[in-house]
Amino acid sequence: MNAKIVLLPGDGIGPEVTEEGRKVLAAVGQKFGHEFSFETHPIGGNAIDDFGDPLPEATLEACRKSDGILLGAVGGPKWDDPTAKTRPEAGLLKIRKELGLFANLRPITTHEFLLDSSPLRREIVEGTDILFIRELTGGIYFGESKIEQNEDGSETATSTMVYSTHEVERVVRIAAKAAQGRGGHLTSVDKANVLEASRLWRKVAERVVKEEFPDLKYDVVLVDAMAMHLISRPSTFDVVVTGNMFGDILTDEGSMLPGSMGLLPSASIGSDGPGLYEPIHGSAPDIAGLGIANPLATILAAAMLLRHSLSMEEEAVAIEKAVDAVLAAGHRTKDLAKENEVALGTIEMGEKVLAELSR
Ligand code: IPM
Ligand code: MN
Repeated sequence: MNAKIVLLPGDGIGPEVTEEGRKVLAAVGQKFGHEFSFETHPIGGNAIDDFGDPLPEATLEACRKSDGILLGAVGGPKWDDPTAKTRPEAGLLKIRKELGLFANLRPITTHEFLLDSSPLRREIVEGTDILFIRELTGGIYFGESKIEQNEDGSETATSTMVYSTHEVERVVRIAAKAAQGRGGHLTSVDKANVLEASRLWRKVAERVVKEEFPDLKYDVVLVDAMAMHLISRPSTFDVVVTGNMFGDILTDEGSMLPGSMGLLPSASIGSDGPGLYEPIHGSAPDIAGLGIANPLATILAAAMLLRHSLSMEEEAVAIEKAVDAVLAAGHRTKDLAKENEVALGTIEMGEKVLAELSR
């Protein structure tokens, strides 16, 4: 099969980890007899520097025409000025919206041999395997937003959380289907005791599940309680679906469970068209250019691209198994290495995965 893959390396460690993802995709293409072509385009801070726009039109066009998109990370202190006309993050929000990528899948799995790297005790994290599904193109990140001058010279800023029936239905359906294919347990997270948008979320989610997925074990948890349960009993969750901001926050919290953010991939998908795949971690400007970033999250994101956008399950599993084998063999990048362990660099870690794939 032929597939056009767009690479959006972005800022900070983005280019370093994306390059390892590309190599792994190319190797899988060779191994399984596929023709993957790669095109690289700017996004984020570097795109602001070069084109004055965090998502240049040419980047968006190339993405629309592709079969799948692999992104590194965007942002950094250089573009953090709150008075700046635009920000790197705006490019990411726009590409999600433009491509209709309303569901963000963030699996949080723990590896047996890394349990002791978790900040939580082994007996708490053991067995944790959660698929977070975050609504990605609605809610407070896309509602009306404004800042106004008051007469006394002070200012008032407004950000609005907006959800409509259709937006909740489609993301809950994706989550419910995923739960059917996993442990059969779906948890919806909201703040319905306070927010009107959450009360609609809860009503619609419950109806969709009751009518269309009656076989699921279904429960509802308030977001503040969820923040607590996630570190007290993470292994009791299966699929968790929630709105944009709650999902943003809870998945950062959840990403600490397996020991390092450097291991977690994510997929952003819509009802059709290419999906966008990226590591959960950010651009890590403090270690950019040092060649020490962990490429495994991006490599695992490449596996998700194969699975969700190209229907290449076997190829995706090959990557996931290779990563497992590399970790099982004790190879660690700096984020995972204990004091007495040798830490591999980004490229060396990529090479370990490639070697495993070519076995
Ligand atoms: C994420 C990031 C983005 C978000 C930022 C960079 C806009 O934090 O993917 O979680 O908030 O969605
Ligand atoms: Mn985030």
